[in-house]
Amino acid sequence: MLNVQLRPKGPPDVPPPNRLIDPGRSSSALADLVLAEYQAARPDDTVARRHIGADPIPSDAWATAVSAAYVPAEDRSPEQSAALELATTIAAELQSADVAILALPLYNFGVSQHVKTWIDLAIAGATPGTRLLDGTPTVLVTTRGGAYGPGTPREGWDHTTDYLRRILVDVWGAELVVIEREFTLAGVNPALDDFIELGTLLKKQAEEAAVAAGHDLARAAA
Ligand SMILES: Cc1cc2nc3c(=O)[nH]c(=O)nc-3n(C[C@H](O)[C@H](O)[C@H](O)COP(=O)(O)O)c2cc1C
Repeated sequence: MLNVQLRPKGPPDVPPPNRLIDPGRSSSALADLVLAEYQAARPDDTVARRHIGADPIPSDAWATAVSAAYVPAEDRSPEQSAALELATTIAAELQSADVAILALPLYNFGVSQHVKTWIDLAIAGATPGTRLLDGTPTVLVTTRGGAYGPGTPREGWDHTTDYLRRILVDVWGAELVVIEREFTLAGVNPALDDFIELGTLLKKQAEEAAVAAGHDLARAAA
């Protein structure tokens, strides 16, 4: 089991007095539900965790790893060797996972640089074209403060979900289930006050989907 989460470093210990959100936890809380259901069925499985928000990958690691690949091993600087080793490790984590849970929310209408660096390094750490999650049952949890569906004012502005599907399914070959939760900022951002009821419903639906996904993931791993 590989569990990758983008939970920011140092979220507040005490959430603000609103009903829907625990800052920095919306996606990881859902991922934890998936994991808890999985572990209830498979308590002896080991979980490899990578917290790319709290423990970020250096932002220059990808460029260093890519350029290092053109340098003979004996001529590489310590930084180049370390970056290539990190890339190989990240790729191997994905390849060795029998199942995976990823918690990657929407920030600034796209994936954060932490997620992009993680993906780029994974690709750099394997032979080009390697399907790092080939046939691997994978749950992607992604959450958004607003809503981006058909007919909404910002339809088309969510540039993370389709990109992640492209990488996870088309590039890496994952057997993917996506759990999405919108309007996590309803009850936080006053501009979204009209959507508090809907946000509450979407939260409940996402939690139910997370429990079901954890159950299915455990069955797939059996
Ligand atoms: C820096 C930052 C940028 C954000 N950008 C967006 C955005 O572009 N669109 C959106 O709908 N929500 C945005 N949000 C809200 C998050 O997507 C939302 O709170 C989500 O639930 C975060 O998941 P998390 O609690 O797991 O971190 C942003 C939040 C932060 C902190």
